[in-house]
Amino acid sequence: MTDVAEPPVTSAGSRSGGLRVLIVGGGGRDHALATALAASPLLGELHAAPGNAGIAEVATCHPVRFDDRAAIVEIARGLDLDFAIVGAEDLLVAGLASELQAAGVPCLGPSVGAARLEGSKVFAKQLMERGEVPTPDWEACTDVATAHAAIARFGGAVAVKADGLAAGLGAFVCPTTELAHAAVDALLVERRFGVSGDTVVIERLVAGDEASVMAIVDGTRVVPLPAARDYKRLGDDDAGPNTGGMGAHAPSTDIAPDAAADLARAVIQPIVDQLAADGTPFRGVVYAGVMLTADGPLVLEYNCRFGNPETQALVRVLGADLLDLLHRAAVGSLDGIDAVPVNGAAVAVCIAAEHYPDLQLEPAPVRVSGLDAARGIEGVELYYGLSEPVRDTTDAIDAAGGRVITVSAWAPDVATAIDRAYAAAALVQLPGRHLRRDIGQPALARV
Ligand code: GLY
Repeated sequence: MTDVAEPPVTSAGSRSGGLRVLIVGGGGRDHALATALAASPLLGELHAAPGNAGIAEVATCHPVRFDDRAAIVEIARGLDLDFAIVGAEDLLVAGLASELQAAGVPCLGPSVGAARLEGSKVFAKQLMERGEVPTPDWEACTDVATAHAAIARFGGAVAVKADGLAAGLGAFVCPTTELAHAAVDALLVERRFGVSGDTVVIERLVAGDEASVMAIVDGTRVVPLPAARDYKRLGDDDAGPNTGGMGAHAPSTDIAPDAAADLARAVIQPIVDQLAADGTPFRGVVYAGVMLTADGPLVLEYNCRFGNPETQALVRVLGADLLDLLHRAAVGSLDGIDAVPVNGAAVAVCIAAEHYPDLQLEPAPVRVSGLDAARGIEGVELYYGLSEPVRDTTDAIDAAGGRVITVSAWAPDVATAIDRAYAAAALVQLPGRHLRRDIGQPALARV
């Protein structure tokens, strides 16, 4: 794939001084979005709440606690925004987009009703059934005996999922009955994720290649973005526990760009239609986690926001102005826009702190260095997690959290993007760091 970027269409309703935008968030995904929006000629002012050390280089950051929705709304009200975009699912599920809209701040993010698409796996499965979106067989269970019966009914190989949010860690892939019973115990007996696991979804295990299929949605219309591939397990070759995602590449090489756009329309439009019919139209980004099986695609889950870390690769390959697309979605005018074209290839490698993904441990602050040299590699951008700048240097940050930094490399082809990403990752220093060494490798077999 070569340069196919089209000139951006003029944004509907933008003011002469450029668009005023607030990004709510402070992680790697938000840093990637901020960097992409800051590159748009349509931008007037970019704000972030709370932002991070990297976002502060392209936006005005407003310190606030991540989960303090009332304070975020107050900040947004004072900024005369064209729109706000909310990165994190927990804020959306808790109703931040609804609260911003009620305060007169246009928001690109689903209302509390529409965010149930991610907030409840049972709700999402029911929507899929109503919209006739293909998904693996499933059953919702609230007690151990019923869950064990469902596991037996599906032949012992299942995915066990907490119904509610669990920071991306609430899904257990269980090839055997023993593992499935242990996952049920973790959720229903140990209550590892509290009330989020009071209901579990038992889902027949299916095999294939996974694709992260996202689209920008304005309430009724769906504009597909290039598909991406996420690497969810902690270790190489998909070994070890699930994480929020240890890396990504975009575009997916398991599905051709045109077919990916058709797939996005096929699995996202029916959901958008159902939500609109229910009086809870979806405005924002719908993410479908799809398994490409020998019998066709099956949707495993929906998220109600940009994927993390898929976004850190995705923004690098968009052949259109992201700010223009997001603004059009926020004001409900995506009509006439087809799928977003692909420009080159990108590989995003997350570098995690020692404890990740163990969320029981309080994340210890770490000093990250070597950033200037890493950024010096051609095609490389660095996206930070929760972090503070270090005085008088761009070479280091003080960071907290699990996935501390994402190295995102763009190139005309995926092989070069892999080389660039790992050359840069080798230069980033932090104590106890760990990263996967195989991000992008499955794509090489396909090109
Ligand atoms: N990478 C998976 C997610 O964003 O939930």
